[in-house]
Amino acid sequence: MIVRTLFSLLLGALLLPGTAVWAAPEIEVWKSPSCDCCTGWVEHLQDNGFEVTVKDTSPAMLDQIKRQAGISDKLASCHTGKIDGYVIEGHVPAADIQRLVSEKPDAAGLTVPGMPIGSPGMEVDDKRQPYDVLLLRKYGATEVFAKY
Ligand code: CU
Ligand code: CU
Repeated sequence: MIVRTLFSLLLGALLLPGTAVWAAPEIEVWKSPSCDCCTGWVEHLQDNGFEVTVKDTSPAMLDQIKRQAGISDKLASCHTGKIDGYVIEGHVPAADIQRLVSEKPDAAGLTVPGMPIGSPGMEVDDKRQPYDVLLLRKYGATEVFAKY
């Protein structure tokens, strides 16, 4: 009993410094409660070390969140995320979000418009539809951030 307590204290002391240094990136995600592909994308982020706060949202509310974030219909997808002041629209791969928050470009965020087959959360067997991750500049212009 005592040995076990000592052991867990020791283990705690060993783990603590590491825990303090490493913080999981935190992202908030607004999505429809019934959307499977959104859940697939959330799991993809979690598998890649993100801490995800999911907010199940009505379609009207989701539309409003997109509009406020500057996501036009043409750039829109299903779910909308926010991390470090950036908007993340649709099935953006975790690696691109990691690159965005480490490079911190002067931009509004990233979007994968529509729902391309083969993007994270949109897996259908091993089918792949080519798609671009777009960097959304603050006044609505976009440029290609990554190609898949
Ligand atoms: Cu989707
Ligand atoms: Cu979605």
